[in-house]
Amino acid sequence: MRCDLTGKSVVLGVTGGIAAYKACEVVSRLRKMGADVYVIMTKNATEFVTPLTFETLSNHPVVTDTFARPETWEVEHIALAKRADVFAIAPATANILAKMAHGIADDMLSTTVLATKAPVLVAPAMNTGMWTAEITQENCATLRKRGVHFVGPDAGFLACGDTGSGRMSEPSAIAEAIAELLCPVWDMAGMKVLVTAGATRERLDPVRYMTNDSSGKMGFAVAEEAVKRGASVTIVAGSVTAAIPSGCEVVRVESTQDLYDAVTARAPEMDVVIQAAAPADYRFATTYTEKHKKAHDGQPFVIELVENPDIAAAVGAAKKPGQTLVGFAAETENLHENAKKKLAKKNLDLIVANDVSQPGAGFNVDTNIATLITADGMTECPLRTKKELAGDILDRVMKLRGC
Ligand code: PMT
Repeated sequence: MRCDLTGKSVVLGVTGGIAAYKACEVVSRLRKMGADVYVIMTKNATEFVTPLTFETLSNHPVVTDTFARPETWEVEHIALAKRADVFAIAPATANILAKMAHGIADDMLSTTVLATKAPVLVAPAMNTGMWTAEITQENCATLRKRGVHFVGPDAGFLACGDTGSGRMSEPSAIAEAIAELLCPVWDMAGMKVLVTAGATRERLDPVRYMTNDSSGKMGFAVAEEAVKRGASVTIVAGSVTAAIPSGCEVVRVESTQDLYDAVTARAPEMDVVIQAAAPADYRFATTYTEKHKKAHDGQPFVIELVENPDIAAAVGAAKKPGQTLVGFAAETENLHENAKKKLAKKNLDLIVANDVSQPGAGFNVDTNIATLITADGMTECPLRTKKELAGDILDRVMKLRGC
């Protein structure tokens, strides 16, 4: 359990989508953490789950849009808006997101969320076409700019039969995100943290390069978590496909040599350096300033590669007292053995070993499976979101620092 939510009130809006049934688990998880939960359902939501289910789980009357006397709305919606310590909406349809983005208040839920001063969190759930629609993305960008928190949506098989983004996050992730807003951990305040993320690109010529599948998701999850815990975070990012988190200083690099220069220049002033990037171990011995022409004679094009500098090893060699250095090990065999060698060779305090050949682990997925290895021992972290793993890594870092 992340924290005790006794005495905290969560207002949970449930809108009309098939994922409404999963909101039941969100309520029971929050209740188990000690929170008081008040549910507001839209009329459409009541078509999927009965108010009685939520009443039983929350132990409070459920407010719906089916009020007999609309004049009571005023009192009720203001009361709930004020009572909320966090206002969450799960599932949040494209419709409620659009209403929130434009200040439309035409039912109990949209009226109450407009009136609240509490932090608002939404867990979108919809068909992938609706989620990726330009207008939905614009509405979400507007809401994010206004400080609305998002959890998900995840990608996967959707109830409509499509596969893609739009599936509501798991109830555990939603309850965790709500708990984080209610009792944020603030144990890294005043600390300087550098996180590397993404792939490097080694250019052969202006149009060709060598790279790998790193999306930046793992590094960004660590950076985001460190920001939430009060750290001042610098991200050094190579090529990434994931969205760069806000609230960090961001340095963009292309090659492993660029990453080396950026990290070694900044590392001495950092309390913690976490290297989740996947730098290319080699670069081309010869590079071309113009596009290299095809020979057209059927002969193989033989390329020589030379080794790149090892950034983690350089930072490890120059390690200062009080610094905590964390590396990752991306392996496909002998996970623990290889990771332990890297821990020692690079003078790291902690290595996060991930077997990138396992489904749900490694490159370009939202989850990971890892072993946290220190000189003292190992902790297994079975399948979990990269965000959750980021929390585990930072918990371990703080423990290593004696906090
Ligand atoms: O970005 P994602 O899509 O979320 O994918 C996450 C990830 C799989 C990239 C991440 O979890 C991960 O494993 N990152 C390390 C990738 C890697 O380069 O592993 P490695 O075992 O080759 O290197 C070990 C450590 O040395 C790493 O901390 C790496 O950043 C560092 N290194 C590697 C090569 C090099 N020349 N210099 C380095 O500093």
